[in-house]
Amino acid sequence: MKPRLIVSRQMPSSVGDRIRAEFDCPHPDGRDMDAETTLALLEETKAEALMFTSHLKLTAEFIERLPARLKIAATCSVGTDHIDVNAARVRGLIVTNTPKVLDECTADLAFLLLLGAARRAREYNTVMERGWRQGMGMGEMLGIRVWGKTLGILGMGGIGRAMAARARGFGMKVLYCNRTRLPPELEQGATWFGDLRDMLPQCDMLSLHAPATPATQRIINAETLALLPKGAVLVNTARGALVDEGALLAALASGHLAAAGLDVFDNEPAYDLRFRDHPNVFFTPHMGSATHETRRAMGFCCLDNIQAVLQGQRPLTPLWS
Ligand code: DGY
Repeated sequence: MKPRLIVSRQMPSSVGDRIRAEFDCPHPDGRDMDAETTLALLEETKAEALMFTSHLKLTAEFIERLPARLKIAATCSVGTDHIDVNAARVRGLIVTNTPKVLDECTADLAFLLLLGAARRAREYNTVMERGWRQGMGMGEMLGIRVWGKTLGILGMGGIGRAMAARARGFGMKVLYCNRTRLPPELEQGATWFGDLRDMLPQCDMLSLHAPATPATQRIINAETLALLPKGAVLVNTARGALVDEGALLAALASGHLAAAGLDVFDNEPAYDLRFRDHPNVFFTPHMGSATHETRRAMGFCCLDNIQAVLQGQRPLTPLWS
């Protein structure tokens, strides 16, 4: 008999095919379910495993209502800020995430946002969509050169380091702020700062790659933005919670920031529409991992974890061990 699984979010077909082959699952391609529907289906099907994404909040209340037979909840994300980890631990639920597999794609998108913001991609696109038809002077619609600039990276985990690798290819000087200094083989010549405030004045560009935690909440605010040099570019592919969006909008409006590249927002998907009014914002709807290859790898990472746990083995990528 195949093990029973509930998948509370639509999955790519490659992941659905594997679910069909290995699990007894009422919606093998996944279905977007809210908390109540997920709980009802877990109860009804007597499933021992749940695969979900950040759209489903594993709050203490939700965890308390989970059927006792549920052994593992595998989130198809690297971020875990939608999960009450303490409540899950207390309940004895195994929770896994998908580290590493999305590092490269997220860094690709961060660099795309950096280039797009600095080189005014959104405005050029608008000109082309309107039909162009009028040549531009040598001084018109100039962007900022990325090559050779100094990039500050907040959070030098896997994604931060993948971003640093791309920056080195663009001849950039890389600074990073992390709680601890990395060994030289991971640092790869980047300069460490233990205090963000010391790093910011030296950054032409700043890219955020830290998780959302109480310590990083609104770490980019009016005070820290003011420490960046005038004309800096901010990129955020981490979490909206890191940024005080009111302060960011003000810095964009005043010209203190030349541009921003944003993939994440405080209130997703209903992001603050005032960002639309700033042509110097180049933005995407939280799509860092959205490639065929990476979404498949994330789905397979969840399924590998689920299979391991249901076969009595240790999970491969648990949130705690
Ligand atoms: C992640 O994996 O955490 C992405 O941001 C999607 O939520």
